[in-house]
Amino acid sequence: MSEKTAAPAAKPMLRALAGEVQPRPPFWLMRQAGRYLPEYRAVRSQAGGFLDLCLNPELACEVTLQPLRRYGMDAAILFSDILTLPHALGQTVGFAEGEGPRLTPIRDLKTLAQLDRGRLHERAAPVYEAVRRIRAALDRDFPQTALIGFAGSPWTVACYMVEGAGSKEYLHVKRWAFGDPAGFQQLIDLVADSTVDYLSAQVEAGAEVLQLFDSWAGALPSAEFGRWVVQPTRRITAALKQRHPGVPIIGFPRQAGLNLLTYVDEAGVDAVSLDPGVPLLWAARTLQSKVAVQGNLDPVHLVTGGSSLEQAARAVLDTLGDRPFVFNLGHGIIKETPPEHVAQLADLIRTWPALRRG
Ligand code: CP3
Repeated sequence: MSEKTAAPAAKPMLRALAGEVQPRPPFWLMRQAGRYLPEYRAVRSQAGGFLDLCLNPELACEVTLQPLRRYGMDAAILFSDILTLPHALGQTVGFAEGEGPRLTPIRDLKTLAQLDRGRLHERAAPVYEAVRRIRAALDRDFPQTALIGFAGSPWTVACYMVEGAGSKEYLHVKRWAFGDPAGFQQLIDLVADSTVDYLSAQVEAGAEVLQLFDSWAGALPSAEFGRWVVQPTRRITAALKQRHPGVPIIGFPRQAGLNLLTYVDEAGVDAVSLDPGVPLLWAARTLQSKVAVQGNLDPVHLVTGGSSLEQAARAVLDTLGDRPFVFNLGHGIIKETPPEHVAQLADLIRTWPALRRG
C-alpha cells in the first residue's frame, strides 16, 4: 500500500486571507525591515543608496529576512519600494539622504509620452530575482511564512510621479486630475497596466500574497475617490484575478475614512488594511463580514512600549481577532522604535489566546 503524505496545512497568513479564523491571528508589520534594526543599517551602508539596496537581489533578500530571524513574523514582505515602478518605466528616481524621494516630475502628456513600458521587465529584473531568492530562503528556513509582493496603487504612485516628491497639498497632481481628467487618466491607466505586469511577474517569481499601498487615498475629496482610487484598483485586481486567481490581494487605502465602504465593495480586494483612525468596532461590524481585515495599531505605540502598547494591542486583538484578521500596524514602523518593543508585541500576540481564556 502506498503511503500518502498529508498535504501540508496552508500557511497561517494564507488561511486568514481565505477567511479562516485561527486561535492566534497571523501577524507582520509594515516596514518590518528598516532603520530601527541595527543589522539593517549595516547592510544599508554597505549598499550605497537606498535604490541600490532595492535593486540588489542578494542584499534585498538579506534585509527581508532580518526581522523574521528576530521575531518570526507570519509574512515576509519583499524589501523594495513603490517607486521602483516609475524607475522601471524610465522616470528618474532618487532618494536624497534624509529627505525622501525625488523624481523628475511628469506634469503633461508630452513628458508622459517619454515613459517606456516596453523595458519594464528588464529594468525590474532585480526585483523579481530578489523575490525568487526570498522565496527559496523561506521554503528552506521559514516554511510557515508567506511571501508578500507589493506595489503602490496608481493614485499614490501618480502623486509621486507628478509632484516629484512627497507633498502636503498635492497641488500639481490634484490640479491635473480635476482640470484635465481625460489626460490624467492616461497616466493612471499606464501605471495600472504596468502594475499588473509588475505584480504578475512577482507572483511568477514566488510571491504568494500581493498588497497595494494607497498611502495618499485620503488626499482626494470623496467625489473623486471612485475614479482615482477604486476604479484603477479594480482594473488591477480584475486583471490579476484572471492571471492568478488563487493569489489574495490586500488593499491599503490609507485615511479613506467612510470611503472604505465603497472600496471594500467595489475594488475587488480580498482583504483591507486599516489605518489607526478606523474605529475597531465599526471595522468589526461593517467590514469584517465582507473581507479579512489587517491592522491597525498606531506605530507610535511601538515606540512607546510598556503597558500602553499592551493595552492598545489587546484592544485590536480582542475586537478583530474573532473574525478573519491579520494583525499589523496602521502604517509603517517608525525608525525610533526600540527593537525590544517589537519583541514585546510579538510575545503578546503569541500569548493572546491564553490571556483571553484566563
Ligand atoms: O514594509 C516593508 O518592510 C517593505 C519595504 C517598503 C519600503 N517602502 C521600504 C522603504 C515598502 C512596502 C515601502 C512602500 C512605500 N514607499 C510607500 C507606501 C507605504 C507608506 O509608507 O505609506 C511609500 C509612500 C513609499 C515611498 C517612500 N519610500 C518614501 C516616502 C520614503 C522616505 C520616507 C522614509 O521613511 O525615509 C521611502 C524610503 C524607504 N522605503 C525606506 C524604506 C526602508 C527608508 C529608506 C532608507 O533606508 O534610507
